[in-house]
Amino acid sequence: MEPGCLRLAVLASGRGSNFLAILEAIKQGRLNAQIEVLISDKSAALALQKAEEAGIPHIFIDPSLFPDRPSYESEIVKQLQAREIDLVVLAGYMRLVGKVLLQAYPHRIVNIHPALLPSFTGLHAQRQAVDYGVKFSGCTVHFVDDGMDTGPIIEQVVVPVLPDDSEDDLAERILVQEHELYARVLQWIAEGRVYIEGRKIYVDHD
Ligand code: GRF
Repeated sequence: MEPGCLRLAVLASGRGSNFLAILEAIKQGRLNAQIEVLISDKSAALALQKAEEAGIPHIFIDPSLFPDRPSYESEIVKQLQAREIDLVVLAGYMRLVGKVLLQAYPHRIVNIHPALLPSFTGLHAQRQAVDYGVKFSGCTVHFVDDGMDTGPIIEQVVVPVLPDDSEDDLAERILVQEHELYARVLQWIAEGRVYIEGRKIYVDHD
């Protein structure tokens, strides 16, 4: 991707703390980007409310109004293209991404997952880590492909799991790192430092 100010769209289904962290990084000058729109598939998503409060354009696109995933995603693509979006940022977006979106934005959709992939994919990654008894978990930012949390990994941060951690304790500790990691990776992309070779991602740190 050409270096420059990234035009971002954030897709979120829930509380929107990663969205706010990205917005904060932009305001503080740590991230050369602009959030052009926040799109949610849930009318009650707190993320929509936070976007409203922050003065960021936001849209609820109701999946139940579309007969299938391709037509629902075509509506998303229409909204993204109208805003000349460079990069789609999934931040707690609780749907698998399908062909229509992937083909419209090849290697231009990123996601954050609260575990060290490929471990603990899918829902409740932090609970899975606590239940399994791992000593370390963390978070991963990756490009999105057609699998669930399977796309090429851009960067990961390791977070310790403490003996008495509940799912919530671990989720809270990981979330602090997610907020820092997502903004950092997006800035690498804005600076044109991220290269893709098959499954492998190289970041130019010279
Ligand atoms: C985060 O833990 C993220 O890793 C996962 O969903 C959660 C979203 O949290 N994909 P928030 O909506 O950004 O607060």
